[in-house]
Amino acid sequence: MTSITMLIALFVVIIGVCTAQKVPVSVYYESLCPDSQAFISEQLYPAMKSPLGRFVDLKLIPYGKSNRSTIGSDVEFTCHHGPNECYGNKVHSCAIEHIQVNSFQNQYTRESLILEYVNCLMQLTRNFPDQLFPGKRCAEQFKLENWQVIEACANQTEGSKLLEKNGELTDTLKPSLTSVPTITFRHQQDESQALALVNFRSAVCKKMQSPLPVECTSLPNSAPVQSATTYLMGLSSLGLILALKI
Ligand SMILES: *[C@@H]1O[C@H](CO)[C@@H](O)[C@H](O)[C@H]1NC(C)=O
Ligand SMILES: *[C@@H]1O[C@H](CO)[C@@H](O)[C@H](O)[C@H]1NC(C)=O
Repeated sequence: MTSITMLIALFVVIIGVCTAQKVPVSVYYESLCPDSQAFISEQLYPAMKSPLGRFVDLKLIPYGKSNRSTIGSDVEFTCHHGPNECYGNKVHSCAIEHIQVNSFQNQYTRESLILEYVNCLMQLTRNFPDQLFPGKRCAEQFKLENWQVIEACANQTEGSKLLEKNGELTDTLKPSLTSVPTITFRHQQDESQALALVNFRSAVCKKMQSPLPVECTSLPNSAPVQSATTYLMGLSSLGLILALKI
C-alpha cells in the first residue's frame, strides 16, 4: 500500500470509531410477568436483531418487584408471580452470567445468544406460568453446552447471590421501581419508558445524538433525510475498497 492509501484507511477507521455511539439501556423485568414477556418478545428482541441493535448497550436485570431476606448464608426470595418466578429469575440470572458461545455458533456473540435464550424463556412461559420452567428446553433449542452449569447455578447458592445482586441494582433505581418492566436509557428513567413499551426502536433513536444513523432516519414517521453518518459510512466503505484494491 502506498502511504496515501494507508492514510485514507486510517482516516476511515477514525471516522468509524468516532461515529459509533451506543446507548446504554437497562431492562428491569420479571421472568413470569406478562408485560415483560410482551416487551422482550415484541419490542426488545426484534429491535436488537435489527441493524439498530448494534447501537444499544443492553443490560438485562431480572428481579422486578421481588423481595428478599437473608437466611444464614443464603437469601430467600418472594416473587410477584410466585415461587416459579423466583426460580425463573435465577435461571435468567445464571444464564446471563454463564452462557458461552460454542465454536460452531459463529452466528452469535455472547450478548446475542443471551438475548436469544432469554427471549425463548419469555416466549415459552407466556400464558403457561405453572408449567415446568423451560430452562432446559431453551438450552437445547440454542445448543447451550453448559446448561448443567446454568442449572446448578440456579438451584444453588450462586443463583441466589446473582439474584440478590440484581435486587441491589433494582433498589438503586430513582424513583424506585413501580412498574415492570422498567426500562432506563443512559441510566435515566423518563417519558421514554412509555414509548419504549410500544416502539422501542423509536425510543432508542430519540436517545441518540446526531448525526443519527440511517436505522433511525429511515424509521416510519421520521423525515427521510440521509444523515451525515450514512454519508460518512458510505465514504468509509469507499475508502476501504480503495485501500484494499491498491
Ligand atoms: C414485598 O414487600 C412489600 C413491602 O413489604 C410488599 O408490599 C409486597 O407485596 C412484597 N412483594 C412480594 C412479591 O412479596
Ligand atoms: C433444579 O430445580 C428445579 C426447580 O425446582 C427442578 O425441577 C430441577 O430438577 C432441579 N435440578 C437439579 C439438577 O437439581
